Amino acid sequence: MAKDIYELTEIPDVGVVPPKMYAQLIRPERFGDPTKAFQLEQVQVPEIGPREVLVYVMAAGVNYNNVWAALGIPIDVIGIRNRKGEPERFHIGGSDASGIVWAVGKDVKNVKVGDEVVTHCGWWNHDDPHVVAGKDPMFAPSQLIWGYETNWGSFAQFTKVQDHMCLPKPQHLNWEEAAAYMLVGATAYRMLHGWKGNEVKPGEPVLIWGGAGGLGSMAIQIVKAAGGRAVAVVNGDANSDKAQFCKKLGAVGTINRKDFNHWGMLPHWKDETGYRAWQEGAKAFGKAFWNALGEKKNPTIVFEHPGEDTVPTSIFVCETGGMVVICAGTTGYNATIDLRYHWMKQKRFQGSHFANDEQCKGINDLVIEKKVDPCMSKVFQFNETAACHQLMKENKHPNGNMSILVNAKKTGLKTLSESR
Ligand SMILES: NC(=O)c1ccc[n+]([C@@H]2O[C@H](COP(=O)([O-])OP(=O)(O)OC[C@H]3O[C@@H](n4cnc5c(N)ncnc54)[C@H](OP(=O)(O)O)[C@@H]3O)[C@@H](O)[C@H]2O)c1
Repeated sequence: MAKDIYELTEIPDVGVVPPKMYAQLIRPERFGDPTKAFQLEQVQVPEIGPREVLVYVMAAGVNYNNVWAALGIPIDVIGIRNRKGEPERFHIGGSDASGIVWAVGKDVKNVKVGDEVVTHCGWWNHDDPHVVAGKDPMFAPSQLIWGYETNWGSFAQFTKVQDHMCLPKPQHLNWEEAAAYMLVGATAYRMLHGWKGNEVKPGEPVLIWGGAGGLGSMAIQIVKAAGGRAVAVVNGDANSDKAQFCKKLGAVGTINRKDFNHWGMLPHWKDETGYRAWQEGAKAFGKAFWNALGEKKNPTIVFEHPGEDTVPTSIFVCETGGMVVICAGTTGYNATIDLRYHWMKQKRFQGSHFANDEQCKGINDLVIEKKVDPCMSKVFQFNETAACHQLMKENKHPNGNMSILVNAKKTGLKTLSESR
């Protein structure tokens, strides 16, 4: 078995930056399954700019975005950066990290060398006129996702982030727990709290797809913290491990998606037989929602990410004036909607993507207050970076979120001094 990096290097003195580091690299000639795409290589430690921070990575979180990066679809992140003038023909992924500030650019004021931090993945230019004007930076033309669209992510001994991306590490968490929640947690926070007029409210029912997954596990807890009532969809009956996991997080009920077979794009409305069959499936799903909730009420928010398979149903079951909020299309990108339900019932179909600084602070505060658990279910060694992404691609990964130990020598460590 390949050696882990802590067998190959010792923790340097704080602030001493070596010229080279180990990293898990994706290269274009290896695009494909994660087991083929990721490989341990040695590269130079990146230089940082005036508002940038070099973080010594103790642990990294695993997210679906680097499954996409490995596959090279729907975008080739390396090719895009090369066309913009970045010379590196490789991608260092990783959009979640816990670690220690090791170097700061000359204009960084919010963190200092030695600080223990978690990092969020919202990247934008400080001098972008949109950002300077004080508008939501997630709408800025320069906005990118660090460790996916940008290089030098957290699957490396050192990662390069912008100053505003650093947040205090919740002290009660160990490195691997602290690395697990930010990307999915902040995304879910924006989806549930960020869209004015349709924010989650006390007592209101919310439908959450993939409740046992990374996003879903965060969404259930955020809804509960806001006093809402989450119903989670899982691939399993009420006694299944996934359903029980969602209930423990605070879901009031669960729905087994295997009880239905009307998934996929909407049949054409002129296809009477096909359409009626779909409608029966969608109606039965709506009833299953009422049963799980214990009341005949439709969800005022539907928390969407599977996409093509589920959007028609999401729009159908959403309450009048409610919102289907979506951040992904894991099963496909053709979202089909019967506009009759959409306009007559004045529903909102809202795209949402990661989060701004305030929303990242919002989820970090909930974690610090212990209202949201990171749901870190499994820790991998650095040389298992490919393997855990492969599990994710095949939907064989455990409930909640996964982490990778990078410079942390073992699990359970919380501070730098413990980690030496
Ligand atoms: N735009 C953003 O900012 C953003 C941020 C985070 C994640 N994402 C994207 O969101 C998606 C989910 O991320 P994640 O971290 O939650 O992944 P995850 O941990 O794999 O969870 C996704 C869940 O979806 C469920 N699922 C799988 N196939 C399904 C289907 N055909 N119909 C309904 N549900 C299905 C699975 O649960 P069951 O099998 O139990 O139903 C799975 O647990 C990914 O595509 C990711 O890239 C986007």
